[in-house]
Amino acid sequence: MKLLGLSGSLRKDATNRKLLGEAQRLFAPSAYVEADLDLPLYNGDLESAKGIPEAVTTLAGQIKDADAIVIATPEYNQSISGVLKNALDWVSRTDGAPWADKPVAIMSAAAGRSGGARAQYALRLCMQAFRPRILQGPEVMVAASHEAFDADGQLKGELYVKLLQELMDALKAEVSR
Ligand SMILES: Cc1cc2nc3c(=O)[nH]c(=O)nc-3n(C[C@H](O)[C@H](O)[C@H](O)COP(=O)(O)O)c2cc1C
Repeated sequence: MKLLGLSGSLRKDATNRKLLGEAQRLFAPSAYVEADLDLPLYNGDLESAKGIPEAVTTLAGQIKDADAIVIATPEYNQSISGVLKNALDWVSRTDGAPWADKPVAIMSAAAGRSGGARAQYALRLCMQAFRPRILQGPEVMVAASHEAFDADGQLKGELYVKLLQELMDALKAEVSR
């Protein structure tokens, strides 16, 4: 199964990118790609003048091609990051409804005690219009994420690994459904 990962944080050492790495390890896909969400800010004038940027077309194609998608979002002021919302908005401007019926697992890594729970709700709302098949759980919310991974980028807590494995198993089952 081909798996695509989206990280709502662009920074190199993002804990959400590490979480995607763990999700990939536990899903064990035949192929894995991490999407590049470092896109220009959506601007209708840019779209009118130059059309959809190539990076957005690539992203939409990756979404369409994937059997399953994992999205790891940070929590920024109790919501998702602008990076992630911007990517969702750009992709919504492409043809072909790439998210429709796509099996999607969402997860979060955040500094706060709730591990990004509110960002996950916000993400569900943001994606509702695209009609993906977003799993309802188990919820993977990594709190105090700056200390949740070891030097090799592996999740430290046994409970997190167990929940993430369950979520990845549920994602595989959703692909086969
Ligand atoms: C603009 C901004 C707003 C933030 N708001 C929250 C928040 O509401 N809740 C929270 O738990 N952490 C918040 N944080 C801290 C992030 O959870 C933390 O930076 C986290 O490591 C980001 O994910 P990353 O490691 O993948 O970059 C915020 C960080 C930034 C930069």
